[in-house]
Amino acid sequence: METIMPSHLLARPHLFDALDDQPLDAMLTLLHLLRNDPRSDKIDLGIGVYGDDNGCTPVMQAAKMAERNLIETQTSKAYLAAEGDAHFINLLAQRVLGGAEVNRYCGVQTPGGTGALRLAAELIHKANPEARVWLGTPTWINHHALIRSAGLHILEHPFFDQATQSVLFDEMMTALESARTGDVVLLHACCHNPTGADFTPAQWRTIGELVNRKGLIPLIDIAYQGLGHGMEADAAAMRTLLDSVPEAIIAASCSKNFGLYRERIGALWVKADSATAALRARGNLILIARAMWSMPPDHGAAVVRTILDSTDLTQIWLTELEQMRTRLNSMRAELAKAVPQLASVAQQSGMFALLPLNREAVADLRVKHGIYMVENGRMNIAGLQAGNLPRFAAALKPYLQGAQHER
Ligand SMILES: Cc1ncc(COP(=O)(O)O)c(C=O)c1O
Repeated sequence: METIMPSHLLARPHLFDALDDQPLDAMLTLLHLLRNDPRSDKIDLGIGVYGDDNGCTPVMQAAKMAERNLIETQTSKAYLAAEGDAHFINLLAQRVLGGAEVNRYCGVQTPGGTGALRLAAELIHKANPEARVWLGTPTWINHHALIRSAGLHILEHPFFDQATQSVLFDEMMTALESARTGDVVLLHACCHNPTGADFTPAQWRTIGELVNRKGLIPLIDIAYQGLGHGMEADAAAMRTLLDSVPEAIIAASCSKNFGLYRERIGALWVKADSATAALRARGNLILIARAMWSMPPDHGAAVVRTILDSTDLTQIWLTELEQMRTRLNSMRAELAKAVPQLASVAQQSGMFALLPLNREAVADLRVKHGIYMVENGRMNIAGLQAGNLPRFAAALKPYLQGAQHER
């Protein structure tokens, strides 16, 4: 039954009328179109989750085993702490940071890599509201919103040329020459999203020199560790940089490499110039986290802790991760073989490639061929399967030639 609102209540200004209409999220729109597409041979290269050769995103066996163990042994769901599960943070730190000087680091558990990045942005703003954050063009779309939400100013530097599939390293270094002391530079540790293009070890060293010379703070996003060349290899360049700088921030995600996307599990570490400063940063991180989510969700952290605490489960997890990585790399090699213009895809790593396609070509591939990609040309390599790769390659070829003519 409809309630009749008194006229004086209807007449006064209403809070939500002041809000602007927002366009539908591009990814959700794509998902909606994909789900409603009746074609049985449609190809999903859009959404950024790992898929196996059958297009499934299964729960990893190691995670299943850890969950069984937790059901048997967990005796309470009471709050743990605002910083999360200390044992989880220490075990994950060994995997992410390796043998770092731990007393100069503080770490907290966060709801996913997204929570880690948002917490990092809030901490930077609290410490220095004037700090500007440098983002490469392009970068993960959500970086902009996460940094801006904390009230920080964003500056962009060139990173990747989509037409030639190359990292614009010299242009990046030139742009960063105008950074101010105290500015923050966001770097992808490995498996860059959306391009798949990573820095070489020599380029990481050059970045380290620039960061130190200009007094910048690296904010490192490590969301795909293990999906490029291996858990250790994917962190190696980042660790070398961390050893060479006095201060840094590291945001890690367990969504992809543990397949725990919806459990929302990640961590944030701050490297400070002294143990005292690290403790101070920790106190501030906890204060900020209390005002955002109070306590992080536990289940994903408990699963990761259970895996990393057991030699057997760790071995099972590493083997599964290796299978995922091998599949991604073999799809890269197959695609490069089938489409010689995309030879660079085989040199890149992780889940994504940013193909040299314009928006019209991406839309055409969707409408005419049922091939779904993000409108900027980002494709999820994990959406390729032995069964759909030849059809994808054949559909793609004419558009690549077209894209080259246009440029
Ligand atoms: C580059 C990058 N960083 C961070 C994240 C955050 O991951 P999550 O919040 O799901 O752990 C993602 C997810 O897609 C990403 O691509």
